[in-house]
Amino acid sequence: MALIPLLLLAALLPYLSHSASVKVGIINGTEAKPHSRPYMVSLQKYGSHTCGGFLVSTQFVMTAAHCWNGREKLTAVLGAHDLFNKAGVVRMEVASYYPHPSYNSVTMDYDILLLKLHGTVTVGQTISPISILQSNQDIPANTICIATGWGYIRTLGPSSNRLLETKVQIVGYRECKILWGQYASQLKLCAVHPGGVCSGDSGGPLVCGNTAVGISSFVQPGGCDVPTLPNVFAKISAFLPWIKSIVGNA
Ligand SMILES: *[C@@H]1O[C@H](CO)[C@@H](O)[C@H](O)[C@H]1NC(C)=O
Repeated sequence: MALIPLLLLAALLPYLSHSASVKVGIINGTEAKPHSRPYMVSLQKYGSHTCGGFLVSTQFVMTAAHCWNGREKLTAVLGAHDLFNKAGVVRMEVASYYPHPSYNSVTMDYDILLLKLHGTVTVGQTISPISILQSNQDIPANTICIATGWGYIRTLGPSSNRLLETKVQIVGYRECKILWGQYASQLKLCAVHPGGVCSGDSGGPLVCGNTAVGISSFVQPGGCDVPTLPNVFAKISAFLPWIKSIVGNA
């Protein structure tokens, strides 16, 4: 089975720019209260949303490794709610890209990328970092967490220009392994209904309480709307030494 990473493919962009709506989504979601998630970042290519990300310090954005092809430049858009509204939004170039050296695009293991921004952000009401889980602990099965993004609202789109969020429930590792087989691993978190993520939500955070624990990674092919397999997220706490080696203790 070919996995479907959740970035918006560049090939879709010309098509999308001709349609009324632009890339943004989440399944069974509701609109986030504007700027209630000031860590959210829209990562853009050629002015179009391609992936989510989130600020983890005043200089680093965390996202998914599959959001960057190793060549094209990403721009971080901070302080956004409605991507059509440029007021108050800060656009920052990326100074350095740090994909996890063990990222595997077949198994989607280590699907994490850190972006060092050109300069530091000024923290305020609409822009500020989120803390990440600081110890390699498991999130108990059935915990309710929140996934957020500007991705597709249905399997085939369109996306939402306003930031959406939805509740999802953590699925324990053993159950996820039964369902996903070789694609499940201790480096990943799994979560199911009442909502889910879809194309364009990649790289966005899975937030439990006030802490980012996961990074949107992939869903089953064609299965955003009514999935029979859990959504899969990179498990941040599995990469703490690597994250610290890059971000430091910032
Ligand atoms: C969205 O809600 C419908 C109706 O309750 C449900 O069948 C579907 O599985 C939900 N989708 C996700 C991704 O949870």
